[in-house]
Amino acid sequence: MIAGNRSINYLRISVTDRCNFRCRYCVPASPFSVIEHKKIARYEELLKITRLACELGITKVRITGGEPFVRKGIFSFLEKLCNLDALKDVSITTNGSLLTRDKIKALIQMGIKRLNFSLDTLDPVKFASITGRDRFHRVWDSIMTAHSLGISPIKINAVALRGFNDDEIDSLAALTMEYPFHLRFIEYMPMGDSAVEKNQQILTQEIQDKIESSFGPLIPMEREYNDGPAKKFKLSNAKGVVGFITPISSHFCSECNRLRLTSRGTLRPCLLHNYEKDILISLRNGASDRELKSIIESTLTHKPLFHSLNEANAKDIPISHMTSIGG
Ligand code: 5AD
Ligand code: SF4
Repeated sequence: MIAGNRSINYLRISVTDRCNFRCRYCVPASPFSVIEHKKIARYEELLKITRLACELGITKVRITGGEPFVRKGIFSFLEKLCNLDALKDVSITTNGSLLTRDKIKALIQMGIKRLNFSLDTLDPVKFASITGRDRFHRVWDSIMTAHSLGISPIKINAVALRGFNDDEIDSLAALTMEYPFHLRFIEYMPMGDSAVEKNQQILTQEIQDKIESSFGPLIPMEREYNDGPAKKFKLSNAKGVVGFITPISSHFCSECNRLRLTSRGTLRPCLLHNYEKDILISLRNGASDRELKSIIESTLTHKPLFHSLNEANAKDIPISHMTSIGG
């Protein structure tokens, strides 16, 4: 599938809007409700949409949430997904809190080699304050277990927040000296009603300067075909990679090669624009494969070339939170 000059081969599927964590930058500050079960796409429905998307050129899928592992039956869904011939690559973004050794082994057995973990701090007390859950050790153990079982690469996403983890930028970056992890600092995106203040946002340049003043130059890595939005660097003698995801300081929309399918069965061409197309309703109303494919293709004509999150009077600030769109 082509959108502008981009070829779209990457589908992110959010399998649930629910999460066992309450990260302050992610969930809304005021009370919120989760989506009713009957409105959530069933696994067979997600599989059918994915199969059709593969016929249109999707070869990579990433599973996200909420937290994917809170959804019942996720392992048998993942197994069926991994059995789709056209899919070359299935990966998962998780908070890691529900993964055990056996579960990680089961993922490896299915052919899942890559995992992204969310971890913003190495301090268990701060961890509990940002996620609302006292689960640091459990998450750290699953990262270590995944590493020891050969999951590679392991990517760790850390949202950089002033007054929260700005004093840990060095220790997070230093993980790449010891482990082959990709430590990715993410610029905080204001998403509707959030408990995090806009002035807590830290832009990449500041993080980069801080790391360089402690460890020396960050050596840029060459972009590989199909790289995600992270700009990748290496510290001298490091085993891992330091990455920056810069939705605010540098537009990467024009390079974005992904399409999103939400747990409500809507297709979103972009995380940061509210345009979405309900494909589930057409599927449930008996649309043919051809009709469903043309819905997928037409969604891509709405894939924007830029977003407006960093403009003072942004009219297009998304009202949906990450838990419902899947990050
Ligand atoms: N800004 C930036 N990143 C966010 N994430 C969740 N909410 C936000 C936000 N408001 C990140 C999490 C997770 C990924 C899926 O999205 O850290 O790793
Ligand atoms: Fe859950 Fe991830 Fe959002 Fe945290 S960032 S609340 S772990 S979905």
